[in-house]
Amino acid sequence: MQPGMRPSDRPAAVPVPPAVAELVRSAETVAVLTGAGMSRESGISTFREAQTGLWERYDPEEIASVDGWSRDSALVWGWYQWRAHVARRADPNDGHIALAELAASRAVSIATQNVDDLHERAGSRTVSHLHGSLFAPRCEHCGTPYLGADAFLPDGADVAPELRTTPPTCMHCLSPVRPGIVWFGESLPMDAWARAEASVLTADVVLVVGTSGLVHPAARLPELALETGIPVIEINPAATPLSDRATHAWRGSAATTLPALVAAVNAEPAPS
Ligand code: OAD
Repeated sequence: MQPGMRPSDRPAAVPVPPAVAELVRSAETVAVLTGAGMSRESGISTFREAQTGLWERYDPEEIASVDGWSRDSALVWGWYQWRAHVARRADPNDGHIALAELAASRAVSIATQNVDDLHERAGSRTVSHLHGSLFAPRCEHCGTPYLGADAFLPDGADVAPELRTTPPTCMHCLSPVRPGIVWFGESLPMDAWARAEASVLTADVVLVVGTSGLVHPAARLPELALETGIPVIEINPAATPLSDRATHAWRGSAATTLPALVAAVNAEPAPS
């Protein structure tokens, strides 16, 4: 890309369904739900993709669980350290950037199931993390945020992953520090969920990008919108349980469709 050129300034490589462009163009408020597919083109594997390397023998759903942590906290800590390292070295893709750009002309709130920070690094300001963050470890006992130097792998380019790494110890109560992730078997953070629900219920249109829609309660958000009569546009290269019920199911990747959509929307003025 030429310096200073935004993704949506490029000639649209992907045709935008006119009804999709019109729904977003006429919207003053847009709620967005994103999942792992949103960060796929930044080089972060989706949750259900086969694991590679050290963790290929392990089921991510078992690692990302309360039971997994009780069984083998060093394995879980090593896995999340590596994921944090990969996420820190990844860059927001054109899809993240396009969503941030859409907020220049409309109120855009994003609820993400992703635990990376690529929406924020792309410039989006209203982001609710439904499943927590890779970058907010805390004490498993007293909840004190952990800020120790060993919270993350060093930034060096050639750090090798370790299958098992002993979690650090809370400076306050000496209990083990855990990843700031919402695991299977845990409740979502109430504030993030309340913000996501309110933004969906007050939106003119809801975009659902890169999620398999298999994990509740996040998967309930598009259903809530549809039940309230709010149109839902799904963006995903593959069909999901939502596809048949969505107002529009647009097959494509986040980093190609979203810049094309924002370019199409910006081609005409925002509603006054
Ligand atoms: P999944 O890995 O279940 O699904 C990823 C979705 O992204 C699939 O529907 C893919 O078709 C789609 N996809 C792949 N590449 C894409 C691309 N380039 N652009 C757009 N879409 C693409 O991930 P999630 O739905 O996010 O929770 O999974 C939800 C939750 O399940 C995760 O947050 C995680 C996991 O359990 C916890 O860890 C609590």
